[in-house]
Amino acid sequence: MMRALLLLAADGTGATVWLPEPASNLAEGVDFNWNLVFWISTFFFALITFLLVFFVLRYRARPGREQEPSTTHNTPLEVLWSVIPTLIVIGLFWSGYRAYLDMAVPPQNTYEILVTGQKWNWEFTYPNGYVDAELHVPVDTPVELVMTSEDVIHSFYVPDFRVKRDVIPGRYTKLWFSALDVGEHDVFCTEYCGTSHWDMLAKLIVHERADYDAWLEEASDFLNRMAPAEAGELLYNVRGCKQCHSVDGSAGTGPTFLGLFGSQEALTSGESVLVEENYIRESILNPQARVTAGYDPVMPTYQGRLKDEEITAIIEYLKTLSE
Ligand code: CUA
Repeated sequence: MMRALLLLAADGTGATVWLPEPASNLAEGVDFNWNLVFWISTFFFALITFLLVFFVLRYRARPGREQEPSTTHNTPLEVLWSVIPTLIVIGLFWSGYRAYLDMAVPPQNTYEILVTGQKWNWEFTYPNGYVDAELHVPVDTPVELVMTSEDVIHSFYVPDFRVKRDVIPGRYTKLWFSALDVGEHDVFCTEYCGTSHWDMLAKLIVHERADYDAWLEEASDFLNRMAPAEAGELLYNVRGCKQCHSVDGSAGTGPTFLGLFGSQEALTSGESVLVEENYIRESILNPQARVTAGYDPVMPTYQGRLKDEEITAIIEYLKTLSE
C-alpha cells in the first residue's frame, strides 16, 4: 500500500504512474493541478469511507436500543460542509485558470511552425518553407504551432509536453510550448479520424539551438543534395504518400506503387490509362480526375503543396519501383 502510494508521487524525474516525465515549460502547471485534484480526491475518499464504516458500526441496530427521532438539521454543520467545498473549488479554479492562461497566451516573438493534419499524417512547415513529417524544434525557445486540417478534425497531442489541441478544417488553432531538454518525444492524433487514426503519429525532436539551424539548413537542401529518385523516396515517406500507397504490392487506401509506373491501369470510368509521367502528375495535383478502378476518390490534392521539382522526384522514385 505504502509502495503504491509512493509510486503515485513524483520519483525525482517528475514522472509518475499517471504522467510521463515533464518535458516542456507548461508541464509544471498541468502536473501541479493534476496532483492537487488527485490528492484532494484521495483525502476525501479516505475520509468519507472511514466515516461511513465507522458510523455503520457505531450506530448499528442492537437489541434494546431504541431509534432516536431524526435530527431535521444542524446549521453549523451544514454551513461548514457548504463553505469548505466552495472554498476548495474556488481554489482549484484559481490554480487551474492560472495554468490555463500560461498555455493560452504565448510570449512575444515565438518561433512559428505551421502544422497540417490530414488522414493520416502530420506535416510540419518551417519558416523557410521546408516541409517535414517530423517536428523539429530548438530547445528552450518558445515555439508556436499554427495548425489546420485538410479534411476532418484531428487533435495534436504531445503527452510529454502536456499540450493538446484540436486541429480543425477551415480554421486555425494554435498552441505554444518551450522544450526543457534536448530529446525525442511522441506526437499523437487524439481525435478519432477514421481507419488509420491509430497510426497518425509523428516524432518531436528537440535540438540544441545551434544544431537546430544546421539541421534545418541541411534538411531544406535535400533536392540539391540527393538524386531525384532518392529525394522522391524521402518525399514519399514524409509527405503522406506512404499512408495510403504501399511499395511492396500490398493493398492500401490507394493503389500500391510497386510496378505501377509503365502499367495499364483500369479506371472507375471504365477506360484504362498508361501510367506515365503526366498521369502521375495529374493524379497528384487533381487526384479525382482519373481514379483507378476499385478505389474511392479520397486522395487530397497536392496543388500548391508540392513543388514541380518535388513532383518530378516522386515520379523518378516510382520508376525505380517498376524496374
Ligand atoms: Cu487524425 Cu486521429
